[in-house]
Amino acid sequence: MYAAEPEWRAVDSYFAGLLVPEDEALAAARRSGQQTTMPDAEVAPNQGQLLALLCQMTGAARVLEFGTLAGYSTIWLARAAGSQGHVTTLEMEEQNAAIARSNLARAGVSERVDVIVGPAGDSANKLIADDVEPYDFVFIDADKPNNPAYLQASLALTHAGSVIVIDNVVRDGAVTDPSSPDPRVQGVRAVVADIAQDPRLEATALQTVGVKGWDGCTIIRRRS
Ligand code: DHB
Ligand code: MG
Repeated sequence: MYAAEPEWRAVDSYFAGLLVPEDEALAAARRSGQQTTMPDAEVAPNQGQLLALLCQMTGAARVLEFGTLAGYSTIWLARAAGSQGHVTTLEMEEQNAAIARSNLARAGVSERVDVIVGPAGDSANKLIADDVEPYDFVFIDADKPNNPAYLQASLALTHAGSVIVIDNVVRDGAVTDPSSPDPRVQGVRAVVADIAQDPRLEATALQTVGVKGWDGCTIIRRRS
């Protein structure tokens, strides 16, 4: 359970109740997160809807996800990509991938999703070596120390105009501590520094509060 003020939860449930109704497939995927190696780490409903909106607003049909877990965000992304779209999602743990596959089937999106099991960096390098068609949208939400490597792989797998979103960049404000001993914080700080100095990228970061506590995401657009 995240440290979230009751007021943050109330506001999330007010908006989500009106604007982000979960169908049974999404609700089941969320519940099954408890059986994964990282309970509660899936995005909040309103964050899932944000990912879907960003995909739809940019007309993204090919989506790459780092970190599948139970496939909750994967369902949002697959539905947003549409019946002609495709999602490739990279997951370290076979246990989680099995749970995700069953959630994706229940949501009716199995045909448009590939779950690839193994270290996400290796899987992404294989996609690069296979010279796959570039992705329009990337969601980076796996092990945080590897964020810089996942961004570099994403840059090899996208095109001008592609959007890249990175989850969990605030972590209760820890991101501002340059001497944090937490490798996840250092992974976030390193990737933000990489974004800042890359002339191909324009980006912002938003801190959020809600059912997942105090956190945030970075939203990047590739200009070239
Ligand atoms: C953690 C990872 C996540 O992607 C998330 O959304 C929440 C927590 C974690 O590493 O603890
Ligand atoms: Mg996350």
